Amino acid sequence: MNLLVTGGTGQLGRAISRIGSDQHQITAPGSSELNVADAESVRAAISELRPDLIIHAGAMTDVDGCEHDPRTAFLINGLGAQHVASASASAGIPIVFVSTNFVFNGELDRPSTEFDTPDPISIYGASKLAGERAVAALNPRHYIVRTAMVYDETGRNFVNSMLRLSAEHPKLTIVDDQFGNPTYAGDLAFGILLLIQEPAYGIHHLTNTGVASWCDWAVKIFELSGIEIPVEPIPASQFPRAATPPANGALDNLAAASLGIELPHWHDALARCLTRRSEITR
Ligand SMILES: NC(=O)c1ccc[n+]([C@@H]2O[C@H](COP(=O)([O-])OP(=O)(O)OC[C@H]3O[C@@H](n4cnc5c(N)ncnc54)[C@H](OP(=O)(O)O)[C@@H]3O)[C@@H](O)[C@H]2O)c1
Repeated sequence: MNLLVTGGTGQLGRAISRIGSDQHQITAPGSSELNVADAESVRAAISELRPDLIIHAGAMTDVDGCEHDPRTAFLINGLGAQHVASASASAGIPIVFVSTNFVFNGELDRPSTEFDTPDPISIYGASKLAGERAVAALNPRHYIVRTAMVYDETGRNFVNSMLRLSAEHPKLTIVDDQFGNPTYAGDLAFGILLLIQEPAYGIHHLTNTGVASWCDWAVKIFELSGIEIPVEPIPASQFPRAATPPANGALDNLAAASLGIELPHWHDALARCLTRRSEITR
């Protein structure tokens, strides 16, 4: 397929190019080449490239930044998705919209399925939900792929932050009462590329298997990296930040599992990422 990937310079965009280039022709611009908040530039990119499908991964992903600048968050995550959905529908092609576990309030005592009702508690979550709704309303051939806690070998993510902080501090305190599914961008890319082989339109949760708190995740990063550092679990109330992540942000990948798509356990994914990271940075 000829694929257009927005947010091509981000963690997921890069992973899709890395993993999918053997099978697909992939164009993956960053925001300076394709700004989704600009409807005309979205239409122009589609008419020039004539893709068979668009993976819309570009977003304002600075969750705390979204709280400080809600206007920009909605312009990029809400209106941007509207532009991509509308242009893809006019071109008669399907769209994958990459969304987030932050659309949920996190109050369930189990992982959220595709059939649970979104109720965002942050601007980021609300703006991504606005994007989901625009995509669903404007392009009937849509895949809404909700994921969580995405990391890659490089880029701004929890894994790289933990490795940096462990070198700067003798001890770390990490939140232990907020949960999700740490998801390796490489595995997520692989799952999305499998998903688009089926006309399985609708909502799909797609994460690595297994659930972790931030603290569980940090401890595993240090264990797999051979770093010895004391980690003190703390409640989120002791780590104030602008945006509130859902307390239980874990996702149940019900729909993808029904298609036979199941991503590996997060321990396995993290080990592969860290190995590849050390090869890259060696
Ligand atoms: N990271 C997570 O933990 C996480 C969790 C759940 C869901 N998601 C979703 O997964 C998707 C991919 O996330 P990621 O981790 O790959 O993000 P990322 O590494 O932060 O990259 C964000 C990408 O979006 C692009 N972008 C920003 N503003 C844009 C605009 N106005 N127009 C077009 N592109 C724009 C950036 O381009 P430039 O760098 O060129 O500006 C960059 O390529 C996003 O839709 C995000 O909401 C992420």
